[in-house]
Amino acid sequence: MTNIYAVVLAAGQGTRMKSKLYKVLHPVCGKPMVEHVVDHVQSLNISRTVSIVGHGAEKVKDQLGEKSEYVLQAEQLGTAHAVQQAETLLGDLDGITMVICGDTPLIRPETMKALLDHHQQQNAKATILTAIADNPTGYGRIIRDSEGHVAQIVEQKDSTPEQQLVTEINTGTYCFDNKALFTTLKLVNNDNAQGEFYLPDVIEILKEQGEIVSAYVTENFSETLGVNDRVALAQAEAIMRDRINEKHMRNGVSFINPSNTYIGVDVKIGSDTVLQSGVILEGNTVIGEDCFIGANSHIIDSEIGDRTKVDASVVEESVIGEDVTVGPYAHVRPASNVGNRAKVGNFVELKKTTLGEGSKASHLTYLGDAEVGTDVNIGCGTITVNYDGVNKFKTIIGDRSFIGCNANLVAPVTIGADTYVAAGTTITKEVPQHALAIGRSRQENKENYVNKLNSNK
Ligand code: UD1
Ligand code: CA
Repeated sequence: MTNIYAVVLAAGQGTRMKSKLYKVLHPVCGKPMVEHVVDHVQSLNISRTVSIVGHGAEKVKDQLGEKSEYVLQAEQLGTAHAVQQAETLLGDLDGITMVICGDTPLIRPETMKALLDHHQQQNAKATILTAIADNPTGYGRIIRDSEGHVAQIVEQKDSTPEQQLVTEINTGTYCFDNKALFTTLKLVNNDNAQGEFYLPDVIEILKEQGEIVSAYVTENFSETLGVNDRVALAQAEAIMRDRINEKHMRNGVSFINPSNTYIGVDVKIGSDTVLQSGVILEGNTVIGEDCFIGANSHIIDSEIGDRTKVDASVVEESVIGEDVTVGPYAHVRPASNVGNRAKVGNFVELKKTTLGEGSKASHLTYLGDAEVGTDVNIGCGTITVNYDGVNKFKTIIGDRSFIGCNANLVAPVTIGADTYVAAGTTITKEVPQHALAIGRSRQENKENYVNKLNSNK
């Protein structure tokens, strides 16, 4: 078995992005583009992945973690110079090295695999992944000789008007015989318009040495988009969005309007779930089967059980059970846990709160730092008073309790199981099991008050 290595180029600043964020860290469908590249590479049978880092090196390393090894390119002198930095790790090894840019997040693993297979079948020293572009401006052009073989790659800035008419472009992805790569890199110079050491020059040098240099033309140009600016970033986002949405539709998820539904790459959705327009699902969100996610819901890093309905609501870093109703207009904030068959109704906010199975907070309620048992009824306008301006305190409500409307539960406080809290009550101390707690001023009626008032007119 031939060993296969991957080198991911991720050291550039990305000047054309005009951003404080390093280019390869810009997200596409919620994941930094360099991480897409590394994840795609790793889904193949690759022995080692080495990322070349420079600008924002620490941030890129933090993002990719254990997924890659790293080499620092302290000064960005060009793509050939970048690859050369991996020599200390890979230089002596036999095998094939695939080089791929950190700014081409759309190249699918299937395409990388096809490139690798082609490279091996051709017994080539180098194989370039190329594509035919409608508008090749900005890309390196593939110059072929009279027999149709690849002769060289010419960068846009070094090209003649005639070469600019060529529509076959260098996608920035290549396979090389590993040892030939590192030997040839030493021969690359920076005698060109940008004064950089160009990786594509390796192709011409190998060709001149009489080695086999091949190209694998992918039919899908949109996959090879290199993201150099915000325009391309939005294009990449749209292409990946279509791809993700199509995958879910093929798996049995209904989209009312896929062009206005935004699903992160790592989100999982069960079959027969319906997503309405404007839904945003991010991060490691998992949605069950037969769910209904209503218009403009935004769910981040959360788990939603089967048959649950979330409508026009925001759910963050929380777990929602099965057969639950959330919204419309609810906000479930981080570290909340909503049990099966529970209800989080309109204008209800939960924060770091457990709402037990079958419990209901149907309207206009704030539950923060609360532990609510099962089958509890939280009346309209109930508020856990969890914050004294300095510290946060906990409210515990036992099973089957009934909290009347407009109650203030001043934490820390425990309300036992099977209790009643009368409407309008401010609870400041423990309510024992089976008790009724009333804490409000008594009503007083002033007889004939209105008549007296009118007689003074
Ligand atoms: C490069 C290719 C071009 C190809 C295009 C495909 C070269 C000289 N040109 O052009 O033929 O059509 O990609 O998208 O290779 N990088 C480093 N260190 C450096 C310079 C760049 O790590 O010193 C990294 C960048 O972070 C980026 C990648 O290499 O991820 C490509 O660099 P970029 O400047 O975007 O090259 P292009 O001009 O797009
Ligand atoms: Ca680029």
